[in-house]
Amino acid sequence: MAATATQPVFILGGGLMGLAIAHQLARRGEAVTVLSRRRNEAAGFVAAGMLAPHAEGLSGNLLHLGQRSLERIPAWVGQIEADSGLSCGLRACGIVVPFASAADRDAYPTAGFGDRLDRRGLEREVPGLGPTWTAGLLFRQDGQIDNRRQLMRALERACTALGVQFQEGTEVQSLGRAADGALSGVRLQTAEGEEHLLDCQRAVLTCGAWSSQLMPELPIKPVKGQMLSLQGPRQALQRVIFGPGTYLVPREDGLLVVGATSEAHAGFAEGLTPDGQRQLQAGIAALLPEASHWPPMERWWGFRPCTPDEGPLLGPGPIPGLWLACGHHRNGVLLAAITADLVADAITIDKPQGNNPPGKNPQKSLPLGEAERWLNAFCWSRFGAG
Ligand code: GLY
Repeated sequence: MAATATQPVFILGGGLMGLAIAHQLARRGEAVTVLSRRRNEAAGFVAAGMLAPHAEGLSGNLLHLGQRSLERIPAWVGQIEADSGLSCGLRACGIVVPFASAADRDAYPTAGFGDRLDRRGLEREVPGLGPTWTAGLLFRQDGQIDNRRQLMRALERACTALGVQFQEGTEVQSLGRAADGALSGVRLQTAEGEEHLLDCQRAVLTCGAWSSQLMPELPIKPVKGQMLSLQGPRQALQRVIFGPGTYLVPREDGLLVVGATSEAHAGFAEGLTPDGQRQLQAGIAALLPEASHWPPMERWWGFRPCTPDEGPLLGPGPIPGLWLACGHHRNGVLLAAITADLVADAITIDKPQGNNPPGKNPQKSLPLGEAERWLNAFCWSRFGAG
């Protein structure tokens, strides 16, 4: 079927990437429909919301992409807040990474981007820090956003305010191809058990850890993370602490989000485990001993989408007309801002003839040369699969 002026772009997956891209497409005048199986399992609801390219010790292209996204986050959040009328809970609070020795600190891949701290400096930045830590790095430029309670809701509201349609409880089962190989349709099953085939020439795959269930050629595996939150005193902790294996993220209202196990062999095994929860408790005791006495508020788990090099898959997919925004592993919240712009720009550049809504000239937000560089660096076929 020929593309018509009203045919939406289908977003396959209603998590953070799906919402962020839907929002940017809607801002560029596109009709958008989000198909989602179970929104509450999205990694966007699971993550702690750290904005931490430096604290995470990223390197190479992934560090540069993360830094570029970090720069863009205030403006991106401003758009979401303006379109939704809701706050996203962005905090430019800085992140402290503690180390057992100055040598460990100086060997950290991103050490050059942080302020070097000795024990006194650590105590000043993080009163109550455990005694094991004698050196640290303060990354003032890193921060956090309240993804779980604020950003996801605000994005959803921004999308609906701009006319994005949602179909929750919808499982995409396969993608149809035309005679020339291009995307022609989406076969799905509704929560009521009905099967439908939708005509579709443009779609974005944002299924996170489940992406390779729809496209087995994509090298994405789940890495399970268990988390919890504690009710701490308001203002008890100002900086995020990013320790080895455990991190503590203080929200404005005193809630302390604690992450996360990293279970590469758990597959999609649901639920908390005593081992995982004990590991988090040990991490809390080592980083901030007084927090061991704060009552737990919530416990949860989820699945990070991980590729072989831990970088995302961005841009054109294995089928013409299908775009990818998946595989963001530990950095989805950080990378959502640049991912949404890159993919929305690319789709509106590639729009089929005759499908441009009158008077809606797509606004590109990244210089073309830069966008091309990122799409090449994070192309799905970089692993030799394509
Ligand atoms: N961004 C931290 C994590 O995935 O646990």
